[in-house]
Amino acid sequence: MSQVRAKDLTKIFNGIKAVDDLTIEIRDGNITGIIGPNGSGKTTLVNILTGVIPFEKGSVIVSETKREKVKPFNIHAYGITRTFQAVRLFEQMSVLDNILVVLTERNVFSALFERHKIHHISEAEAILKGVNLWEKKDDNVERLSYGQRKLLEIARAIAMKSEIYFFDEPFAGLFPEMRKIVIDIIYDLKIQDKTVVLIEHDIELIRGLCDRVIVMNAGTLLAEGKPEDVLKDKRVIAAYLGD
Ligand SMILES: Nc1ncnc2c1ncn2[C@@H]1O[C@H](COP(=O)(O)OP(=O)(O)OP(=O)(O)O)[C@@H](O)[C@H]1O
Ligand SMILES: [Mg+2]
Repeated sequence: MSQVRAKDLTKIFNGIKAVDDLTIEIRDGNITGIIGPNGSGKTTLVNILTGVIPFEKGSVIVSETKREKVKPFNIHAYGITRTFQAVRLFEQMSVLDNILVVLTERNVFSALFERHKIHHISEAEAILKGVNLWEKKDDNVERLSYGQRKLLEIARAIAMKSEIYFFDEPFAGLFPEMRKIVIDIIYDLKIQDKTVVLIEHDIELIRGLCDRVIVMNAGTLLAEGKPEDVLKDKRVIAAYLGD
């Protein structure tokens, strides 16, 4: 089964096809890796699948709803959550409030001014402990390190309690102990039978974590399949992995 599919998808930026006639499906309950050279269209594909940007041609099917040339849509209504390659957080708010915003109706004002229900606080505590940020809960986000911000963005995604999670390079720039935390989170989602899509350049992580891999090259689908097959595919080695 597949809740997320794209058919003949094309996205053009300034005359250049960032995504070029791409047909893919994301299998439910799997961890799917998306790999490919810089500029091959990975982030653009995820932006389309998560409704962040519209597209020129083809269709996207999310949870049995077909979308063509869609305007950005409310992904949360479809049980989808994502993180961004360039982290997006509420900088002037505390670490804890960044999580409470999500847990309390995703509304900044209610998160700041509502007297928090005790179960929201304890849920936030569990989530923040899971990314080793509970001790930082009262710090403003702007005081966090780069890695801590990435972990907080992932924690926010977890707080969304979705069915499908898209992570755009969650490991990039993380120290080994932080990478371990992200690996555990992704495995935990898999155990809960969630669907995970992971853009990642580290091939060993892809090999270790993913059930399936999609390889993009210049906006097109170069290969798709199990990591052990895809990563030894001559075309993939030539286009991306090198000798
Ligand atoms: N908002 C935009 N405006 C114009 N061109 C864009 C925009 N976003 C992406 N592109 C172009 O589309 C192509 C695909 O970019 P994209 O960011 O999807 O690649 P990527 O595979 O995610 O690369 P990376 O591994 O570096 O993150 C690139 O040529 C890029 O310059
Ligand atoms: Mg990208």
